[in-house]
Amino acid sequence: MEHQHIFIEGKDKNAPTLLLLHGTGGNEKDLLPLAEMIDPEASILGVRGNVEENGMPRFFRRLREGVFDEEDLKRRTNDLNDFIEDMSKEYGFDRNHVVAIGYSNGANIAGSLLYHYQDALKGAILFHAMVPLKNFQLPSLDGIPVFIGAGKNDPLIPMDETQELAEELRKSGAAVEEFWTNGGHQLTREEVEKANAWYKTNMI
Ligand code: MLT
Repeated sequence: MEHQHIFIEGKDKNAPTLLLLHGTGGNEKDLLPLAEMIDPEASILGVRGNVEENGMPRFFRRLREGVFDEEDLKRRTNDLNDFIEDMSKEYGFDRNHVVAIGYSNGANIAGSLLYHYQDALKGAILFHAMVPLKNFQLPSLDGIPVFIGAGKNDPLIPMDETQELAEELRKSGAAVEEFWTNGGHQLTREEVEKANAWYKTNMI
C-alpha cells in the first residue's frame, strides 16, 4: 500500500534512516525539524498516514479517543512494514538500519511495529505513546534501544499507560529509557534534547 512520503538522502551513509511518523492531523513533513535536531546527517523517510478522521491523517483507525481499532492497526502495521521495505529498495537505504521517530498516533504505530516484528526497527523514539495492543505477544526485542518521552500531565495518556508500554517492551528485551516532564500532550524541547542525547549514545 502506497503512502504519501518524503525521502531526503543524508550526508552520512553510516547513519540510520530516520522514519518520521506524525501525530493525528499531521503529515510527512511535520517531524522534519525534529529529525534535524536529532541527526542532521541522517537520511529521512517521512510518511503520511493513510487513514482520515474528519480530514485529519492518521496511521490507523480508532473507535474513539484512546480506543484503537485493533484489527485495522494490525493491518496498517503490516502495510507500513512492507512500505518501508519497498522504499528501501526504491531509495537504496539499508532496511536493517531504520530508527523510528514518532509522536502520538505516529508513536503508537511505531510501538506497534515493535510489537509485531523483531527486526522492523533498529531503535525507536516514541514521544507520547500508548500501549498499541493489549494482551499481545511481543517478539524478542533483545537489546533494541527505545526512548520514551512522556508528560506526567498528558490529558490523553495516563502515566500508567506509558509505563505499561515501557514494561512490555522491557519484558521482551528492549533497552527502554523513559523521560518524563511535567508537561501535557504537547512535545517539549526538553524531551527532544534528551532524545538527542539518547540517540548519540545508543544509535551512532
Ligand atoms: C491515537 O489515537 O493514536 C492516540 O489517541 C493519540 C492521538 O490522538 O493521535
